[in-house]
Amino acid sequence: MNLQLGTVVSTIDGPSPSKFDFVVNNGSVHKGMFVELNYSEGTMICLVEELIKTNRYFERPDSVKTIGAELEKNFPTADWEFLIAKAKPLGVFYESLIKRATLPPSPGTKVFIASNENIKKFLKLEDNGLNLGSIQFHDIPLKLNLSKLLQKHLSVLAMSGAGKSFLMSVILEELQKRSDDQGKIATIVFDTHGEYTSFGEPVTNSNFVDFSANTRVVDGSKIKISVSNISPQTLSSLLSTITPVQKRELFKIISKLRSEMKSGLGPFDLITLKNEFSSLDSKTAIPLNFLVDELISLNVFGKIDDPSIFDLVKPGQLVIIDLNNIISERKKQLIVSYLSQKLFNLRRVKKVCPFALLVEEAHNFIPENTSAEFALAKPILRTIAREGRKFGASLIIVSQRPKRLDTTTLANCNTNIILRITNPYDLDHIKQSSEGLDSGTISMISALRVGEAIIVGEAISAPTFFKVRMRESMPSKHEMSMEDAAKRFVADDKTSVDEISNFL
Ligand SMILES: Nc1ncnc2c1ncn2[C@@H]1O[C@H](COP(=O)(O)OP(=O)(O)OP(=O)(O)O)[C@@H](O)[C@H]1O
Ligand SMILES: [Mg+2]
Repeated sequence: MNLQLGTVVSTIDGPSPSKFDFVVNNGSVHKGMFVELNYSEGTMICLVEELIKTNRYFERPDSVKTIGAELEKNFPTADWEFLIAKAKPLGVFYESLIKRATLPPSPGTKVFIASNENIKKFLKLEDNGLNLGSIQFHDIPLKLNLSKLLQKHLSVLAMSGAGKSFLMSVILEELQKRSDDQGKIATIVFDTHGEYTSFGEPVTNSNFVDFSANTRVVDGSKIKISVSNISPQTLSSLLSTITPVQKRELFKIISKLRSEMKSGLGPFDLITLKNEFSSLDSKTAIPLNFLVDELISLNVFGKIDDPSIFDLVKPGQLVIIDLNNIISERKKQLIVSYLSQKLFNLRRVKKVCPFALLVEEAHNFIPENTSAEFALAKPILRTIAREGRKFGASLIIVSQRPKRLDTTTLANCNTNIILRITNPYDLDHIKQSSEGLDSGTISMISALRVGEAIIVGEAISAPTFFKVRMRESMPSKHEMSMEDAAKRFVADDKTSVDEISNFL
């Protein structure tokens, strides 16, 4: 038998089918806890949304002020303190179905802590699902169905340092641990700060699990994009000040080079393209040369793609695109845009396996209000968010600035995991874009601690607070404390001084 916590009370506005209060007379009740009660049609599962203490002796400010401390001496004030829990009915188990509550529970009904089986059944947790942590106050592993979590896209939002990358590492571990018969997808990570590269390093410390066998880390600064593979429109959109006349000439040249390529001359690069400008009059050729030189200076274009997407994207494979060494924002955007487009196109025609695309610092790639020139990847990431579901192309966006994220993309993320956020503008933005969050839940987000989160949306039947589980993979170098980083710097500096003096 579950622990009995209290009894439903009659108030001015309840009980109703959507809310009721119960007085707590046993055990400890917390905000965010699941409770259950017997109801006319079956067992009702409810969420504790608020807790309030009352005491009739302290209700009237005038008498509290005049009698003050004397109250406690002369009256049994402590006996009249009550803890009232405000609960929201989430659903009712009716035969084997879960229904919405349409009648209020009766005053006087006993309220119990919800049983683990009922919580699992109600939230639709799966024993074989991805294990993200444990549900707060119940000690139940939060195991979620892969498709429900990812297929309609996921956003992970929180302020800096709240544990977004830590949680994402846990999700990456879970994706890698799946067996063939559970269905394995590929995961591609645009890792702006090199936070996930440790997945690719062989583990020497037995405290960690080695994920390096199925991980490929790609140095973003060495990636090459095939010029002959990009559409003339995309290429010209990279040339910010191109005029219509220059564009027309450029398209003609590209089309000529493409037909030459098909007739056996092979792929071309920017140098080949520039050589063709000699046939143009100097008024067009000089500025075009100048613009293409700007592209050459990005050092990202070549004749063929390197590495090739086909070599990277395989079932169960984790691909970390390390963008940490790239200084140019434009180059990062270009790589994210090109690879995302290519992946999506290939997935549409089923040439690569289903995948999840993780974009860290998503507000830089899918910003709300930035001109197209500075948000090269926004159109394709938006398209994946809108259409990816049908093709098994899932988007995971991670951001510490939800307010700066494109609202349309965020609205297409059907599951949101939110960790600690205190900025009121960010909280407001989340409230507007996430249907499952009411003001009560929003107010709880700013009280979360590092590693605590709320999940809401497609993946789960009701907003649920959970504690992210400990990671099994090696933490990234970036997780070092300032003290450790300072010590490491001095040690490294000393080693290099020793090495130089030995050499001399
Ligand atoms: N669930 C957790 N359990 C224990 N420690 C955690 C947990 N989540 C995060 N931490 C610790 O908190 C620190 C910050 O975490 P993390 O790097 O994931 O934050 P973040 O939200 O990605 O920050 P940023 O926006 O700056 O990238 C790390 O040192 C990490 O070890
Ligand atoms: Mg991070």
